[in-house]
Amino acid sequence: MNLVKLPQNRDPGPMNAHRPIKVIAVTGGKGGVGKTNLSVNLSIALAELRRRVVLMDADLGLANVDVLLGLQAKHTITDVLDGSKGLRDILLNGPAGIKVVPASSGVQGMTSLTPQEHAALVYAFNELSELLDVLVVDTAAGISETVVSFVRAAQEVIIVVCDEPSSITDAYALIKLLNSEHGVFRFRVIANMTRSNQEGINLFNKLNAVCDRFLDASLQYLGHVPFDENVRKAVQKRQALIQFAPRSKAASAIRVMAQKIDQWPVQASARGHLEFFLERLLAANASGY
Ligand SMILES: Nc1ncnc2c1ncn2[C@@H]1O[C@H](COP(=O)(O)OP(=O)(O)OP(=O)(O)O)[C@@H](O)[C@H]1O
Ligand SMILES: [Mg+2]
Repeated sequence: MNLVKLPQNRDPGPMNAHRPIKVIAVTGGKGGVGKTNLSVNLSIALAELRRRVVLMDADLGLANVDVLLGLQAKHTITDVLDGSKGLRDILLNGPAGIKVVPASSGVQGMTSLTPQEHAALVYAFNELSELLDVLVVDTAAGISETVVSFVRAAQEVIIVVCDEPSSITDAYALIKLLNSEHGVFRFRVIANMTRSNQEGINLFNKLNAVCDRFLDASLQYLGHVPFDENVRKAVQKRQALIQFAPRSKAASAIRVMAQKIDQWPVQASARGHLEFFLERLLAANASGY
């Protein structure tokens, strides 16, 4: 193990003193609702708006970000945790200049880091903060400890739903856990694979009604992405939809959403949201969740 790169103490130093960074988690509870495709394409659309975007793959599932984009990861976050690589060394170059932090079993392990791994991660994120404006985190399905720790650490939470009965119940279960146990109160909702505008609005209303009744949470509708065969075709070609079929219905909808996301205010804090994100991520570790 090579710890040469680590700082002497665990103080991350002045991190991102000038520019706040937007940290956005994409989640949804249910599997297969389109979280990874939306994370990838929203990241590229934000990059097309001239934002510097890092997409972190926090899912070890089969349809990983790197697979979807035809990228090959030589090193992963595990190499960062053992101090042998910096985050810059493991970043993959994606379309439109986005950078991808590939998934690895280290992601799972972020909820139980040793002090040395903890220090390595703080150092690595300190380095990363100079490289980006937006960090998008693609999460796994479900409400595992890993999913919750990433989502509660983010500044913005996007919940992806689609018109399947378990999608709304799974999204509700996740929102309830985040809201009642972890103090997350603001959620943005995307309805994916919709067959009409109204279907998206109905899905949002259904989820909003139950949250309104039982939780102290605020849900905001970000919009819908229509069902579009081009998404599947792009996946088969290992290309991002937004580049494979830039004028498709789904790509157009995603671009409109990226413009909205770009307008979301970022609270200007002295040290930026990347540090906030990391503190929260590591606090989840310390508190056992
Ligand atoms: N708008 C859409 N129109 C048509 N098909 C879509 C759309 N969005 C996603 N899909 C398809 O749905 C499938 C699941 O998408 P994706 O892998 O992005 O979901 P996920 O939520 O990340 O899944 P997992 O929970 O397994 O990580 C893919 O085959 C993709 O092609
Ligand atoms: Mg996925």
